[in-house]
Amino acid sequence: MSDDQPLRHVVLIGFMGTGKSTVSRRLAEHLGCATCDVDAEIVKREGEEIASIFANRGEEAFRAAETAALDAVLGTKDKLVIATGGGAVLSSANRELMLRNGYVVALTAHPEQVIARVSQDPERPLLQGGVRERVYKLLEDRKHAYDFAHLSIDTTDLTVDEVVNRIAEAAARNSQHSNS
Ligand code: S3P
Repeated sequence: MSDDQPLRHVVLIGFMGTGKSTVSRRLAEHLGCATCDVDAEIVKREGEEIASIFANRGEEAFRAAETAALDAVLGTKDKLVIATGGGAVLSSANRELMLRNGYVVALTAHPEQVIARVSQDPERPLLQGGVRERVYKLLEDRKHAYDFAHLSIDTTDLTVDEVVNRIAEAAARNSQHSNS
């Protein structure tokens, strides 16, 4: 894609439990386009649940499957709102793919809110063995991992609709700018 073409997709990045999936569904409704969850795409392509890929084949195999799924999703012709997994940003190849094909939006949230949200879903492989400690450790390890986004939104004190409106406005401004 050349630099003067508008960015096609909206790509949501952010740590686990920052609301990417919920926001992506609502944002897609708002924009009148489809949504795609890269984790769900991995499960479909691999025929295996995320936790099971980690357990049976290890994180490296999961990351390879994640890059392949992300590449396929970003190659979709029609505009999508794409929710990525929290670690999809760790690979520079993934970051380049996202920036080349989408308007990248980072969602952040207060660690306590992240902990409250992820505690409701005990399946996440990287949080096994102590959610609180693992969240704080990973947040520290990934402190700058989401900085490459075009836009960053702290969702802690915002409703889903407020987050959606902010993204929609910023994405519209961005596409006007790219078209001019
Ligand atoms: C991961 C986040 C998860 C999932 C996998 C690894 C991570 O996605 O991709 O468990 O490395 O942060 P969510 O951010 O949707 O929970």
